[in-house]
Amino acid sequence: MSSESAIVFGGASGLGEATVRELAGAGHKVTIADLNSEKGEQLAAELGTGFVQCDVTDSDQVEAAISKAAEAEGGLRICVNCAGVGAAGRIASEKHGAAPLEGYEWAININLMGTINVLRLAAANMIGNEPDNHSQRGVCINTASIAAYDGQIGQTAYAASKGGVVGLTLPAARDLARYGIRVVTIAPGLFDTPLLALLPEDARKALGDTVPFPNRLGIPAEYAALARHVTENPMMNGEVIRLDGALRMAPQ
Ligand SMILES: NC(=O)c1ccc[n+]([C@@H]2O[C@H](COP(=O)([O-])OP(=O)(O)OC[C@H]3O[C@@H](n4cnc5c(N)ncnc54)[C@H](O)[C@@H]3O)[C@@H](O)[C@H]2O)c1
Repeated sequence: MSSESAIVFGGASGLGEATVRELAGAGHKVTIADLNSEKGEQLAAELGTGFVQCDVTDSDQVEAAISKAAEAEGGLRICVNCAGVGAAGRIASEKHGAAPLEGYEWAININLMGTINVLRLAAANMIGNEPDNHSQRGVCINTASIAAYDGQIGQTAYAASKGGVVGLTLPAARDLARYGIRVVTIAPGLFDTPLLALLPEDARKALGDTVPFPNRLGIPAEYAALARHVTENPMMNGEVIRLDGALRMAPQ
């Protein structure tokens, strides 16, 4: 496997951080792009990689991050987007009435529009690459969630944002097929990231107990291993891959 230039949005924490470590370990030249400069710079210093502070919803910032990663020899070949936020609240209730629209706009802006923004700018940049020996110019990996399929009570905003990412995967792969650019989405189940680390140990254990097998929370390195496999397997394209230990979430 030759060394390629990769960028990981949301690479400062959780699934993104694990992906940065995996791709750097595989010998790739990785750029970390994240809102969180403290954690991003710390990880970049530890691994000897680059860091760019970037909000995935900002076109200029995403374009600048991609241009920086593309300065490497061979251009940008791998783009992984793990930047995302959680959102909770029922769509309407007797007590609170209709949920505020702003919560939906916030989640959809970061999780869905941010994904579209990263994907469109990464793909536009990759079109200028020389095809490799598989006729490929690049690969883009998005992160959805199994909430796109079996969202729980209180997850309408989050599920809507991730459902959009699921829906765009195949048409984006079709759009970009002529250039040899692949698009794949990973839909994780429950993973033990800083997001979940905020919960008490017994609550995390209870969540892990809902997973059929392995009967535990996913480890970020398991997401990263799949992301790396996607980069290495030219036949993986236009697909959403559930990575969830056979979990189908209950309503609550
Ligand atoms: N952890 C899980 O169980 C789980 C399950 C399903 C899906 N996911 C999805 O996986 C992705 C990563 O989640 P995680 O658990 O690693 O979370 P995390 O909070 O550990 O990491 C998310 C990273 O994204 C960054 N980020 C947030 N908003 C950003 C923005 N606007 N621009 C740039 N960076 C931004 C954060 O600073 C953070 O470093 C998210 O999209 C999340 O919805 C996570």
